[in-house]
Amino acid sequence: MTPTLLELLAVAREDDQAPLSPGPAKASVTSDTGTPTYLEDLPGSSNAWSENEKLESESPNGENELAESLLKLSVSSISEAESPKSLLATKKESTSPEEELDSLEKEGPKLSEYIVISPSSDSMEKETSKSDEKSLISDSEKLKPRSSDSSENVELSKSKGKKRVTLSDEDVAFSENLSLTKISTLRPCPSVAMKLDILDSIDISPDGSAMMEEAWERVKKSYVYFKGQPVGTLAAMDPSAEDLNYNQVFVRDFVPSGLACLMKNEPDIVKHFLLKTLHLQGWEKRIDNFTLGEGVMPASFKVLFDPHRQKEILVADFGGSAIGRVAPVDSGFWWIILLRSYTKCTRDHTLADRPEVQRGMKLILNLCLSDGFDTFPTLLCADGCSMIDRRMGIYGYPIEIQALFYFALRCARQMLKAERDGKELIERIDKRIKALSFHIQKYYWLDFTQLNNIYRYKTEEYSHTAVNKFNVIPESIPDWVFDFMPLRGGYLIGNVSPARMDFRWFLVGNCIAILSCLATSAQATAIMDLVEERWEDLVGEMPLKIVYPALEGHEWRTVTGFDPKNTRWSYHNGGSWPVLLWLLTAACIKTGRPQIAKRAIELAEQRLSKDGWAEYYDGKTGRYIGKQARKYQTWSISGYLVAKMMIENPANLLISLEEDKRIANSTHARSASY
Ligand code: GLC
Repeated sequence: MTPTLLELLAVAREDDQAPLSPGPAKASVTSDTGTPTYLEDLPGSSNAWSENEKLESESPNGENELAESLLKLSVSSISEAESPKSLLATKKESTSPEEELDSLEKEGPKLSEYIVISPSSDSMEKETSKSDEKSLISDSEKLKPRSSDSSENVELSKSKGKKRVTLSDEDVAFSENLSLTKISTLRPCPSVAMKLDILDSIDISPDGSAMMEEAWERVKKSYVYFKGQPVGTLAAMDPSAEDLNYNQVFVRDFVPSGLACLMKNEPDIVKHFLLKTLHLQGWEKRIDNFTLGEGVMPASFKVLFDPHRQKEILVADFGGSAIGRVAPVDSGFWWIILLRSYTKCTRDHTLADRPEVQRGMKLILNLCLSDGFDTFPTLLCADGCSMIDRRMGIYGYPIEIQALFYFALRCARQMLKAERDGKELIERIDKRIKALSFHIQKYYWLDFTQLNNIYRYKTEEYSHTAVNKFNVIPESIPDWVFDFMPLRGGYLIGNVSPARMDFRWFLVGNCIAILSCLATSAQATAIMDLVEERWEDLVGEMPLKIVYPALEGHEWRTVTGFDPKNTRWSYHNGGSWPVLLWLLTAACIKTGRPQIAKRAIELAEQRLSKDGWAEYYDGKTGRYIGKQARKYQTWSISGYLVAKMMIENPANLLISLEEDKRIANSTHARSASY
C-alpha cells in the first residue's frame, strides 16, 4: 500500500535520520583562537584565547541511513484505518540516556537524505480517514495523492541521496499549510506541551530572590526534550492564548535561556540545542520552487510525536511559515554567537572544533560573504528577517542585522580552524570586519553634531569627494529627531541606504554594537548617555523600547501596510520588551555603567512577575500589558534571569568581545559630545 504523504514526511523529517547537508565546503579558515578564560572580556582584562590549547575534535560517526529510511517508508504504509495508538511520547520509549546523548552528538556528515518539496499542478484527492482526531482527518485528507498511482504525486528519488516528495500547489505550503498540518495532526510530546495549569500554581514573587526562583522554575518547565535530552525552550507557555507558533523553540528566543543555563553551569541544553539546530540547517529547504541557501538556520522548530512510527520527529520553520515568509537572517548569527559563549563558558573546544560545526559556521558565513553587486559592506535584508519579524520598514541595511553580522564574524574568527582552504575565508572575514566597522561607525553614527551636519548637507554632489555620500535630502530628516537628540549622547541609526536614513532608535542593534565592539568605545559611552538622557522615551515604566519612536498615521499605513498588530506604541512599533533587559544590562556592564541596568531591572521587578511575564508592553511609557502579548513568555523570564546574574556577578558577561586592536585603527566617527 502506498504510504501517505504524512508518513513520508514524518520519515523524511526524522531528525536522527536527516544528516548534514553534503557538498564541498567552499572554504575553511585559520583559527586565531584557543582556550578562553572566563573573565577575559571584562573591561580591563585581556583576551586570553590561545592557539595551542585547542583540543582535537571528535570525528563524526557517519553512517548511511538511506536504506533504513526507505525500509521505514514502506513500513510506514500502514493502514489508514489504523487509529493512532498512544500519542504520548515518554522518555521510557527512548533508549538509555547515554545512548540518546550519543546519538544526539554523533550527528555528522552522513549520506544525504532530505525532503524536497516542490509543487505540482495535481490537486489532492479527499479520502476518508478513520483517525479518531478531527484535525487529523481533515489534514490527512489534504495530503493524500489524487491518483491511485501515487508516483504521479510522490516521487522518491535517490539521486544525490535526496528524497523528493511532490505536493500539489495548495499543499506545498510546507511552510504554512504543511507544517501546520503536521502540527495539527501530530500531538505534541508530553515533554513539549506539559499541563499548562501547573504553571499557575507557581508562587508570584514579592521580591527579587523569590522572583529569581520563580523564573528558574518557569524556564525549566519550558524545556523541550528530544529523545530524552533538553534541546531548547518553548517561546511561551500561556494557557490563556492560542499557541500559534509560540509552542516552538525559536533560535533567537533561546539565546537568553541558553546564556542563563551557561551561567548556572548547566551547559548541556545549550550543546544539544546547537547540535540540533545545526542538524536542521542540513535539511534542504525549499519554498515553492525555490531552494534556500545551504547555510540558512531555522527560525524555530518543534518536537512532535508520530503515532504511526511511534517516534519523536522534528518540524522546522525556515521562514516559510512565518508571517512575512522571510528567512530569519539573525538565526545563524545568534547560533555562532551562542556557540562562542558556550565555548568561552565551558572551555570545551571540542564542540566548536567538530568538523560539522566548523562546516555549519562556514555555511552561514558563505551566505553573507559571497560576491555580488554590493557597493556597501553591509548586508542587504528583507523586512521581517530578524526579531522584528513583520513589515516595519527595516528592509535595506538594518542596524540589528549589521551588528549581529559583525558580532558573528568576530566570534567565528575566534573559532574557525586553520585548515586547507581556510586562509581564503579568513581573509574575507578580516576584510569584511574592517570594512563593516568603518561603514557603520562613519555612516550610521548620529549625535548632535552629526545631525547638524546632515541638516546642512548639500545634495547632488558627484564623485568620491562628496560629503553627502548617499545624497540624503535634509528635508527628509523627521521633526522628532531634532527634539529627541540630546547635547550629550548619540546612537547608531536604524538604516542607511541611497537617499535614505532611517533615524529611528533600535535597541538591539545598538546594544549588540556595544557588545561586539562595532561601536567605538566613545560611541558606546555616548549610546549609554543617550539612554540616560532619554530615559522616559527609551525605558519609561517598563524596559525597554524595541524602537523609538512609533510610526503613526499615514506613515504607519504606508510603512507597515496597515498592520493592526503593529499600531503605534505597540508590539514592534514602539512597544516595550522586557527581554531586552539582558542586552541593556550586558551593554551597561561592558561600558562600566551598571547603575543604568540596576534602575531598569528594578522597574521590571515591580511588575514583570505580577503581570505574568508578559511578552511586551504597549503605550508611550510601556505602562500597559501588550494588546496581544503572551503571558509566561520564556525570553521575558530568561532575559530577566540573565540580567540579574550579570549584574550580581559581572563575570557572567559571557557574550561580550574585547576591542580588536587591528580594527581599532579604522575608527572614524568621533562624537562631539564625547
Ligand atoms: C514574535 C517576535 C519574534 C519572536 C517570536 C517568538 O514573533 O516578533 O521576535 O522570536 O515572537 O517569541
